[in-house]
Amino acid sequence: MINKYVFGTPFETEAVTAQISPTSGAPEFGTVSTDNGFCYSWTMADDEIVFGLGEANRGINKRGYLYISDCADDPEHTEDKTSLYGAHNFLLISGEQHFGLFFDYPAQIRFDIGYTVSNQLTVSCEDADLYLYVITGESDYDIVKQFRSMIGRSFIPPKFAFGFGQSRWGYKTEADFREVAQKYRENHIPIDMIYMDIDYMQDYKDFTINEDRFPDFEGFVNDMKAEKIHLIPIIDAGVKIEDGYDVYEEGKENNYFCKREDGSDFEAAVWPGWTHFPDMLNKDARKWFGDKYDFLISKGIDGFWNDMNEPAIFYSQEGIAELKEMMEKYMANDPSVPHFFLGRKISTLANSPDDYKRFYHNVDGKLVRHDKVHNLFGYNMTRAAGEAFERISPDKRILMFSRSSYVGMHRYGGIWTGDNKSWWSHILLNLKMMPSLNMCGFLYSGADLGGFGANTSRDLVLRWLALGVFTPLMRNHAALGTREQECYQFENIEDFRHVVGVRYRLIPYIYSEFMKAALNNDMYFKPLAFVYPDDRMARRVEDQLMIGNEIMIAPVYTQNAEGRYVYLPEEMKFIKFLPDGSISEEILPAGHHYVEIALNEVPLFIRKGHCIPVADAAESVPEIDDATIRMIGYEDAVYDRYDDDGITRI
Ligand code: GLC
Repeated sequence: MINKYVFGTPFETEAVTAQISPTSGAPEFGTVSTDNGFCYSWTMADDEIVFGLGEANRGINKRGYLYISDCADDPEHTEDKTSLYGAHNFLLISGEQHFGLFFDYPAQIRFDIGYTVSNQLTVSCEDADLYLYVITGESDYDIVKQFRSMIGRSFIPPKFAFGFGQSRWGYKTEADFREVAQKYRENHIPIDMIYMDIDYMQDYKDFTINEDRFPDFEGFVNDMKAEKIHLIPIIDAGVKIEDGYDVYEEGKENNYFCKREDGSDFEAAVWPGWTHFPDMLNKDARKWFGDKYDFLISKGIDGFWNDMNEPAIFYSQEGIAELKEMMEKYMANDPSVPHFFLGRKISTLANSPDDYKRFYHNVDGKLVRHDKVHNLFGYNMTRAAGEAFERISPDKRILMFSRSSYVGMHRYGGIWTGDNKSWWSHILLNLKMMPSLNMCGFLYSGADLGGFGANTSRDLVLRWLALGVFTPLMRNHAALGTREQECYQFENIEDFRHVVGVRYRLIPYIYSEFMKAALNNDMYFKPLAFVYPDDRMARRVEDQLMIGNEIMIAPVYTQNAEGRYVYLPEEMKFIKFLPDGSISEEILPAGHHYVEIALNEVPLFIRKGHCIPVADAAESVPEIDDATIRMIGYEDAVYDRYDDDGITRI
């Protein structure tokens, strides 16, 4: 059952698609105060677990820390960070009582989950204008399914998007991309996508191509397609200010950019230099921006990633002017500007909360200051694209995923988890985020495998890929200036060929489970607690996940490990994909086990009485041969496999 409570005058985020009539009175669980902003409180029982929050830091169980939904362009995902790129305000309280909470509020909102006082859950925000949904049901899993059906069906990408993708910020020319394609193909490491980062554009201008680097872009796209490789370009939120650039000229002329209070277009510096932000909350601007993707679609492109859409701001004109003034005073030894002031100003210029108060959106003729709806920007950029794709490509699916997001965006695209690091702890963080993201509708998701920032190592890439084998988005991506981490950069390339190859062997299962989850508002990744709610130990597991109804995964995420401990809530078949192409199978009883897993092996566990389809390895998704599919797992088990042509919209 879903109860909807209305406080003040909420902004219509359109996160929820179901028609739900408001309930009067106070929520059944917890208390609400609107005396000073909005504050929801619940006293947590000792054994209660709090799930949710989608893309957030720390555990699958969120208890014990503070999280703030405030879409942030922050590449330092250290343990103390309270905000990442997404705002997914769904919580699931699980214990003797269980209920879900969705706070549909588009600005900064704080989730203090036993941080200030260990048994107190406090959710607070500045304005008491929001919808609060309280969901009750027969189990945690049931509550999530109800939440999912209320927010609408998750985005479904084309099937090729379940292949492996290579990316790197730094590929510039056609020759760079051709080299990556060639290296993958000549080493027989499977691949379906190569991602194009900002350098394919002319001066980082959206919807342009650098013609010196790509003299015949269409021809190049087609050549790659003949190699069964899709090129996936990036699109950034900011539009470069440059006379004569059509996107800039049209946006300016039609008032499609976010404006300052005085009516002038707000200016922010991002990769292209000074830019304007398209007003993604203005319907007309959204349509206009979305239609621009056709510039690339008409050249054969069938997938995109939307970036810098928190929106990221290096600095604004106002910020720079303030810095200049401060600098002048500092140089003149003005005592009002002590040393540390200047340093602080410089370090807080980017993504400054002051800047988010300096521009406005035109929402159906009403001006809304950006900070009041900050968490909706990336969502609506991706919505602009998603809505346009339905017009431009009504029959065929187009791949889309975004960095910033809010609940509701899951209908238009997936997400990647942004600028992580080549750290072992980030493999585990990747794993922990996946079920939480699924709760909030983000099924097509994954992290930068191998790590984006910092220099990686061979073992780290291999171990991370062995988790990436199971994430719907499986992409290796790295930052400019870091160690090269394409699979062919390391010794014993055959190990990489094997691990990525296992992904392709499992695509019949992965695609089937993804599609079932998408079509039934279900989860692809689940915490063990959802499947074994009465098992106290399973409820607390933070480094193993269930996928679909058949399997459990327990990847290795520590350096120099030869294996790991794993908890089996029931008897399971321990499967290893061995480097010689064979598959080892061993029945393990319920309980704790130490299992050996070499660097070049991919483990999984099949639940008692279940089986999964496995194909022979292939070098691209269209080359997977259904005739090679066989079942592994328990004898006499049956698997109901979903499949389709992988491209027609459904
Ligand atoms: C941002 C993105 C990253 C990309 C870089 C350059 O940091 O998160 O993926 O490579 O910008 O475009």
